[in-house]
Amino acid sequence: MDNPKDAVRRFWNQAPCGTRDAADPDEIQAFRELERQRDDREPFISRYARFDEARGKALLEVGVGAGTDHIRFARAGAKCAGVDLSEVSLETTRRRFAIEGLASDLRVADAEHLPFHDGQFDLVYSWGVIHHTPDTAAAAREILRVLRPDGGRFCVMVYNRRSLVAAQAWFMFAAVKGNPMRRVSDVNRQSHREPRDEGIHQS
Ligand SMILES: C[S@@+](CC[C@H](N)C(=O)[O-])C[C@H]1O[C@@H](n2cnc3c(N)ncnc32)[C@H](O)[C@@H]1O
Repeated sequence: MDNPKDAVRRFWNQAPCGTRDAADPDEIQAFRELERQRDDREPFISRYARFDEARGKALLEVGVGAGTDHIRFARAGAKCAGVDLSEVSLETTRRRFAIEGLASDLRVADAEHLPFHDGQFDLVYSWGVIHHTPDTAAAAREILRVLRPDGGRFCVMVYNRRSLVAAQAWFMFAAVKGNPMRRVSDVNRQSHREPRDEGIHQS
């Protein structure tokens, strides 16, 4: 049986988050398109993340993906650090930052074992990540550990069990596959490493 985190890494190494829909031979155009699509599809992110208030803050993003939110924190003047399990996602984010002359301490690391000191960050941000890791509670504990205890802010999005996203994932990965007894929480955790047509296969 494959290590679930290796499967996650392989999946996101094939195409970092959102890049499948924003392919352009010119990478600068592709990044612009990625940003445009995010604003179209999830316009509420800016209101929730409050990028503009991050100036001067020590920010950690857990699961940076292709860096679409991460770069907005950097543009706003945050002191950025970011982790992801996927090397290709981190490389994509690094190139994106280099294009704009921005800096972030980007590391391949696991949300369940963050390579940072206690209380190091004013803000920890994580969008659509920690419900996919095998031990979500461990990731949450790690985030609280590295967050400043006096007034640090943890800004997180996880899938709600009773949501359209969860219902859609359950339909695709449980009902369609003839396994209607499968729990929604189990599908939420694994939907991003399920075998798909593009060729991720679990052994
Ligand atoms: C759905 S994408 C979201 C990416 C980004 N937050 C965004 O909204 O564009 C999930 C990301 O979480 C990363 N990830 C999953 N489990 C992780 C873990 N245990 N530690 C670090 N990153 C993880 C994946 O590699 C992937 O890049």
